[in-house]
Amino acid sequence: MKTISIISGKGGTGKSSISVSISSLLAHCGFKTLIIDLDLFTHGLTFYSLGSSLDKISGSLSDIFMEEKNEDIIVPVIIPSEFTSGNLFILPSISNVKQSVAKSAFDNKYINLTDFRRTVDTILKNISPDEFEYVFIDTRGGTDYTSIGSALSSDYFIVVTEADKPSWKMGDFLINSIVEAEKNEKIHSKRMGFIINKNVLPSEDIEQYLRKKWGMPHVGTIPFDKSAIKYFQENRITIEEDPGCFFSKEIHNIVRDVFVSDKWTDRNINRLELAVEPGILSMIFNLFRN
Ligand SMILES: Nc1ncnc2c1ncn2[C@@H]1O[C@H](COP(=O)(O)OP(=O)(O)OP(=O)(O)O)[C@@H](O)[C@H]1O
Ligand SMILES: [Mg+2]
Repeated sequence: MKTISIISGKGGTGKSSISVSISSLLAHCGFKTLIIDLDLFTHGLTFYSLGSSLDKISGSLSDIFMEEKNEDIIVPVIIPSEFTSGNLFILPSISNVKQSVAKSAFDNKYINLTDFRRTVDTILKNISPDEFEYVFIDTRGGTDYTSIGSALSSDYFIVVTEADKPSWKMGDFLINSIVEAEKNEKIHSKRMGFIINKNVLPSEDIEQYLRKKWGMPHVGTIPFDKSAIKYFQENRITIEEDPGCFFSKEIHNIVRDVFVSDKWTDRNINRLELAVEPGILSMIFNLFRN
């Protein structure tokens, strides 16, 4: 089991869209994959994935973090979709639409990173490593414990940024906070690298600049793409609905470049290669859409 946190210094960079797309594609390729919605304040991924079936959930991460319920109450919930063939699951951040976590209550409860990480580690330990091949943690943008703690508790982390100076500045804060926390906690998490999202400019110079500045690999650059917004608004998975769009193609490149390993069989690779071939339905849809 590999755990990967998706983090960013600034909110709204595309963490949830990217988490759900990469994990859906891995599930499509045949790997049992889990996404953990650690954004305890906005629950983007939980709403996105479970929508109206949310009220049937037995327990949530908020129950564990804020109510101190036993971690056994939370079981991975399947995200129904033909594309992911029953391989994609979520640990939701809330278990009903009325549940919410006040940031102030969270900050009062978790006054140090070690306490927060202890709970994250207990949750991760409770996931059977034989059950899931990949576990993604979607976090809240910013430099609070949900980003730093999950980066430190995962095997790898990916930083998502937009291609502008405010995002880099916030990225600097986040990366400096992680380096500081690593020193204090005496651990070192592996940097899978950074993804530039919503890009509209030639990106080579920016990629090189950030590679140097942040001292980590460049994982991919995703263009600004209206499909990403459209399907996100409709709670549908972009790569399933529009496999040929720019967003889906770059997610595909990222999975091929970063996730394919010796463990992948020919069948897994074939599924990956076929995933970006637009189907007949999607081609007809695109013809009319344009
Ligand atoms: N490549 C892209 N091109 C255009 N829009 C995008 C792209 N990626 C994501 N978006 C849009 O940006 C918005 C924010 O995306 P998303 O919710 O995934 O970001 P986030 O980082 O998870 O945000 P938050 O910090 O609020 O959790 C959404 O409307 C989404 O559709
Ligand atoms: Mg989000």
